[in-house]
Amino acid sequence: MTGAEKRAFGVYVHWPFCLSKCPYCDFNSHVRHAAIDEDRFARAFAREIETTAARLPGRDVSSIFLGGGTPSLMAPRTVGLVLDAIGKHWRVASDVEVTLEANPTSVEATRFAGYRAAGVNRVSLGVQALDDRSLRELGRLHSAREALDAVAVARRSFDRYSFDLIYARPAQTPEMWAGELRLAIAEAAEHLSLYQLTIEEGTPFFGLHAAGKLKTPDEGLARALYDVTQEVCAHHSLPAYEISNHARPGAECRHNLVYWRGDEYAGIGPGAHGRLDIGGIRHATATEKRPEAWLMRVEASGHGVTTDELLNSEERADEFLLMGLRLAEGIEPDRYAALAGRPLDPKRIALLSEEGAIAVDADGRLRVTQAGFPVLDAVVADLAA
Ligand SMILES: C[S@@+](CC[C@H](N)C(=O)[O-])C[C@H]1O[C@@H](n2cnc3c(N)ncnc32)[C@H](O)[C@@H]1O
Ligand code: SF4
Repeated sequence: MTGAEKRAFGVYVHWPFCLSKCPYCDFNSHVRHAAIDEDRFARAFAREIETTAARLPGRDVSSIFLGGGTPSLMAPRTVGLVLDAIGKHWRVASDVEVTLEANPTSVEATRFAGYRAAGVNRVSLGVQALDDRSLRELGRLHSAREALDAVAVARRSFDRYSFDLIYARPAQTPEMWAGELRLAIAEAAEHLSLYQLTIEEGTPFFGLHAAGKLKTPDEGLARALYDVTQEVCAHHSLPAYEISNHARPGAECRHNLVYWRGDEYAGIGPGAHGRLDIGGIRHATATEKRPEAWLMRVEASGHGVTTDELLNSEERADEFLLMGLRLAEGIEPDRYAALAGRPLDPKRIALLSEEGAIAVDADGRLRVTQAGFPVLDAVVADLAA
């Protein structure tokens, strides 16, 4: 992309509720046993959108992502109200990508037509595994059959859909995973997200893992599972365009590219993060995480922002490096230099290139190699030092 080209602008909207809490998940999601007042939330989303748009006038929205939590618990009418508010306060590109994250149950699939009518044009389903035993262990409320049925409804309802699987699960071998992945690819159209199970602090899995009751793959096995993922997907024309995301060329999730390319995005809803460029300064924003507390803040002051941090050039450049090197396309070193006020250290680039962890392409882009991706954190730390 050249400097003169218009950069992307995304809007992230967080729906913070789930039917139950999965034992591995540390996302901002809450279970409520009473009915949720969706109209009240819709009004608050619209209010926060209006306030945020006043800080960011003149943007063209290129992508919208309704994430969670479980946004597929929202009534299509609520989704429509949120999208209308975005369209009222910003200009929305005619080819805008509008993704909604959905849990793959039969009940949720019945809402897909309503979401499409409301303006959603892409769904991302949390399938997680294609065998029932693993799904039970992951605490999921759906079976593999039900998930595949929901994928079939997504295929009929939307031109674009993706689904997520979690691998490196307890007792998973590379052979088992390769078989499951082939099955998944047969059901996928253009995009798959494949996440290694992460044991997050504060989750039930963290306690079980610490007590030795949940065994995750050691480094060697995790590496073998990662390698199988790359081989099987590349063989089926779904190469990794990001460390955990695979797509046919041109079918990448445009919203997630906003994050990884260091573009601008607004975060709306409880616990949403944003990166806003105001007067040439990058702001890192975050909103109140607790849904009811967020509602009250928005109703009182028009927004739920509790953190609004100005990033200095070093922080801005480090974040650009950290996010950009997750992408197969890598980064433009000149953009790093412009942000940091200094270029990357040529000696470190030479050393990491010799080790085969990074490569500098003929067009000057710097990217992490297949061998470097499993040690990405170390590569980024080395380059940023
Ligand atoms: C925030 S969740 C929302 C999706 C939706 N609620 C669902 O569960 O189907 C997004 C994705 O993050 C992934 N994820 C969440 N926790 C994870 C963990 N501890 N390790 C690996 N992947 C995880 C799952 O694949 C999940 O689909
Ligand atoms: S994985 Fe999805 S359904 Fe499970 S708790 Fe997290 S956000 Fe909710």
